[in-house]
Amino acid sequence: MNYNDNTKGTKNSGNLNAAAKFIKDAFTIDFDKPLTIKNQFMILFVTLFISTFLFTIVYFVHNAGVPSGNAEPVSNKPGTTQVEKTESKPESRTESKPQESSKSESSYNGTLKNLTTVKKDHDEVYNGDLILVNKDYACHHDGEETVSLLDVKTDTYVVSDASVRVNESIVDTVNNMFDDFYNIYGESRVMIACGYRSSSLQQELFDAETADKGEEQAEEWVAPPGYSEHQTGLVMDLDLMVEDGIDGIDYDGQGIYSWINENCYKYGFILRYLEGKEKITGYEYEPWHFRYVGVPAACYITQNSITLEEYMDKIQKSGVNNPLVIKDNGKVWYTYYVKANENGETDVPVPVNYEYTISGDNCDGFIVTAEIS
Ligand code: DAL
Ligand code: ZN
Repeated sequence: MNYNDNTKGTKNSGNLNAAAKFIKDAFTIDFDKPLTIKNQFMILFVTLFISTFLFTIVYFVHNAGVPSGNAEPVSNKPGTTQVEKTESKPESRTESKPQESSKSESSYNGTLKNLTTVKKDHDEVYNGDLILVNKDYACHHDGEETVSLLDVKTDTYVVSDASVRVNESIVDTVNNMFDDFYNIYGESRVMIACGYRSSSLQQELFDAETADKGEEQAEEWVAPPGYSEHQTGLVMDLDLMVEDGIDGIDYDGQGIYSWINENCYKYGFILRYLEGKEKITGYEYEPWHFRYVGVPAACYITQNSITLEEYMDKIQKSGVNNPLVIKDNGKVWYTYYVKANENGETDVPVPVNYEYTISGDNCDGFIVTAEIS
């Protein structure tokens, strides 16, 4: 063996010297001459390095406050909402069921940091997209925020007449849903036969049904006056227009119309009276009756095939430190219940870093829903 063989060392030293010279040359800029290739290379390298560094800092600052921990609450009651920030138009998507969380969403499973509070009067528990109205909980509204759909609708669906009214807040999402349906199937005969109903109209319907079928049967199909979801203005009953453009025929959510029943959650609607859940909702299956609850709640309710009553039960067992986590198609929301003070105002904890909505539950509390990603 030749112990004097130091070729390798010499070669390495040569490489190091060459690299050092390259760097020195690259950093040596003679401003009286054009930039050398080495100068340009070094400027590019330094720019990329600084950009990457700044991007990393911004990324970590932006994500500060994203929760950690656990929580899938479980459980019992109703609610209402006031939108603090608005929801965007739903995207047209092809899947018919909400997606479970993707890998990148799995870290969103905990509590919120960076909270502040907003004050809510007790009576605000009766307002919002999540108010539960059923045989136990009366509606505290009577059409004050409704508009006639005929004046504001798009041409991709019909309404039975100018008396069909819904809350102004849901007009865009109704239009978007039927526009998207029309763009897929070219069908514009879907008819909204009924939206908001006054308490007195509900009384007329209830009396007529009772006269026709008896009280017991009537109670399975028609809500007593004051206790119909239609009174919220957040509901629509669908029909199909027949040839003459006047009379509707029963909408059953079958065939191409199943797209509406399967995709309505993307627009914030749920099918309210589900088959097999009659004992929970108190009403027979109604494939035509859609209720707006907002996109996050609609996603969760549809993913889990539950009723609004069951959803409110779950929400009631949540709290700001153990929110219900809702995930769909890359979006993540945290939602939680805050009990209202019986007298006076309630300090409702809300996130500083995320957009959120607050709804009453129509009983004794508020539901905060924060958009995490
Ligand atoms: N058909 C529903 C239950 C109502 O009358 O409100
Ligand atoms: Zn209805």
